[in-house]
Amino acid sequence: MSLDDFRDHIIKDKKNYLFHSTLVNTNMQLVRKIHELSIVKRINDSLKFVPDLKKVCCSIIDTIKDEINVKFCSLMVIDNEKHCLTLKAYWSQSESKAIFYEGNSPHYEFKLDEGVAGKVAKEGKPILINDTSSDERFVCIPNNNQHIKSLLCMPLQAGEETVGVLNLSHENPNAFGKDEKHLLDMITNQIAIALKNVFLFQEMQAINRTLENRVQERTQKLEDMNNTLIQTRDQLIHSEKMAAIGTLAGGVAHEFNNLLCMIQGYAELALQKNDPQMSQKALNVVLSASERAKTIAKNLLSFSKRTESKRVAANICEAMEETLTLIERDIEKDNIVIVRKYEEMPEVIFDVSLIQQVFLNIIINARHAMNNSKGGTLSVNIYKTDADAVVEISDTGPGIKKELLQKIFEPFFTTKGVWGDDDVPGTGLGLSVSVGVVESHNGKLEVESVEGQGATFRIRLPLNVPADAEIACKPGVSDNKFLNTATRKANVLVVDDEDGIRELLSEMLKISGHVVTTAMSGQEAVSACKSNEFDIIFMDIMMPGMSGVESFKEMKLQNGKPKVVFITGLNFDDQNRLMDLEGAECIKKPFKLSEISNIMKRLLKA
Ligand SMILES: Nc1ncnc2c1ncn2[C@@H]1O[C@H](COP(=O)(O)OP(=O)(O)OP(=O)(O)O)[C@@H](O)[C@H]1O
Ligand SMILES: [Mg+2]
Repeated sequence: MSLDDFRDHIIKDKKNYLFHSTLVNTNMQLVRKIHELSIVKRINDSLKFVPDLKKVCCSIIDTIKDEINVKFCSLMVIDNEKHCLTLKAYWSQSESKAIFYEGNSPHYEFKLDEGVAGKVAKEGKPILINDTSSDERFVCIPNNNQHIKSLLCMPLQAGEETVGVLNLSHENPNAFGKDEKHLLDMITNQIAIALKNVFLFQEMQAINRTLENRVQERTQKLEDMNNTLIQTRDQLIHSEKMAAIGTLAGGVAHEFNNLLCMIQGYAELALQKNDPQMSQKALNVVLSASERAKTIAKNLLSFSKRTESKRVAANICEAMEETLTLIERDIEKDNIVIVRKYEEMPEVIFDVSLIQQVFLNIIINARHAMNNSKGGTLSVNIYKTDADAVVEISDTGPGIKKELLQKIFEPFFTTKGVWGDDDVPGTGLGLSVSVGVVESHNGKLEVESVEGQGATFRIRLPLNVPADAEIACKPGVSDNKFLNTATRKANVLVVDDEDGIRELLSEMLKISGHVVTTAMSGQEAVSACKSNEFDIIFMDIMMPGMSGVESFKEMKLQNGKPKVVFITGLNFDDQNRLMDLEGAECIKKPFKLSEISNIMKRLLKA
C-alpha cells in the first residue's frame, strides 16, 4: 500500500468513526425523548380520572415511580383554608403501588414555609438537594427520613397559583441530575392542571350542594309561607263574614222584633176575642211568622258558621234568595227596590257559604253606594252562558271612577270610614276577599261602571253539571194580608210599612172599639192627616221614603193634637231620632195588647 493509499484509508476510517458516534448520540437522544414522551402521555392520561382525586394522585405517583429512578415520592396539595400542605399520595420501596391518604390527620399536614416542601410551596421554586447530610435546608426527622440522601422537590403550578408540591428522594447522594429536573419541569404543569381541575370540580359540587340545600330551604320556607297564607286567608274570609254579619245584625234584629211582635200580638188577640175566625187567622199569622223567623235564623247560622271549604252541587238562585232574605228588609228600608230576574239554572258546583258571602259583600257595597244617593234599584240578574253561570248585581248608585275600577279589588282599598271620606265604616277587604273566593272556584269577578251611572258586578262560575239537572228557582217571599173589623171609640191612624205590624196594631185597637185608618208610608200618613182628624197616630220610625220622624214634622200638629205614638225597635238610632220630638210617646216592639190599651187610655184621658 502506498503512503497515499494508507492516508486515504485513515481518513475514511475516521469519517466512519465520527459518523458512528453521531449516530449513537442521536439514537440515545431519541430514546430519551421517547421516554419523556411516554411519561408525558401517562401523566396526560391521568387527566381522564378527573374528578376522582384518589385516582388522579395515584396515577401520577405510579408514573413517577415507574419511569424515574426514585426510592420514595410523594404528592402534597395546598389547603388554602388551613394554610398548610397536606399529604395526598406517596410511594416507598416497601409498597407495590401508590398509597392514597384519605384521612385528615395533623400528622400529615405541614406548615407553608416549614421544611423543604413548605419552602417550595411558599416560593413556587424547585429545590434540588444532592446530599442532605451537607445541606442545612433539609430537616432530618429520626426514624423517618434519615436514609434520604438526594431530594428533588418541585412546585405544582397552575398558571400563577401553586396548588401543591411533588417530592422525589433517593438513598444515594447525587441521584437526580439535569435530566430528571428537565423531565419534571415538563410534567409538573400538567399535574398541577389535573389537580386544579379536580379542585374546581369539587368546588362546583359543593356550590351545587349548597344551592340544592338553599333551594330546598327556600321551597320549605315558601311552603310554610303558603300554609300561613292559606290560614290567614281563611281567617280573613271568616272575619269578613263576621263583619258582614255585624252589618246584618241591625236588620235581622229589626226583622225578628217585627215577627215576635206579630206572634205575641195575634196570640193575645186570639185569647181575648174568643172568636174562632180570629183564632184561626191568629194561628195562621203565628205560623207564617215563625216560619219566616226559622228561615232567617237558619240562613244566619249557616252563614256565620266557619265551615271547611265544602263544594256541593247547588242552585245558585236559591243561594242568592237565602242571602237576600237576610238583608232585603234592611235594603228596602233604605228606599232600595230589589228587581230579580232569574233564568232557570242547572246546578253548579260551589261552596254555598263562601259564594253567599261574595253576594252579601257586593250587595252591601251596592246598598252603601245607593244609600248616599238616598235609594235606587238593586237588580239581581242570574243567567247562563255556554260556559258559565252568571250572577249580575247592578245598582243605580254613583258608580266608580274609571281610575279606581281595578283598585277596588286591592286589599284595604276603601273610600269608606276613616280611610275614605264616608261615614260608613269600611276595611277595604270585601272585594279582595270576594275575588279570592270566586277565583278559587275557577270563576271570575268582573266590574263594569261608568261614573254617575251605577255599577255592575258580575260573578262567573263555571258550569260543570249536565244541563238536564235543572232545578226550579225559589219563588219570592209572599206577603201577609189581613182583614179589618171595626167598632168606634177614638179615631186612630196606624202608620207602618210592615203589613203584619200594621194589621196587628189595627186589630188590637179595633178590639177596644176604636176606628182605625191605616197608612203604609210617611207620605200617606201626611195626606191622611190633611183629610181626617185623628185623635191618636201610631207610627213606625223606620220606613222607606219618608221616615216616621220626618212625617211627624211634616204633619205640623196644632196644640199637640193628634197625639203621636212612635213604634220602635229602640235601637241607638231610634233613640237619637226621638230625643227632641216634643209630646211624642213611644212603644217598643214587640208590644203587648195591654200596653196598647194602657197607652190609649192614658192618651185619651189627657
Ligand atoms: N257598588 C259600588 N258602587 C260604588 N263604589 C263601590 C261599589 N262597590 C265597591 N265600591 C268601591 O270599592 C271599594 C272597596 O270595596 P270593598 O268591599 O273591598 O271594601 P269596603 O266596602 O270599603 O270595606 P269592607 O271591607 O267593609 O267591605 C269601596 O270602598 C268603594 O269605594
Ligand atoms: Mg265592602
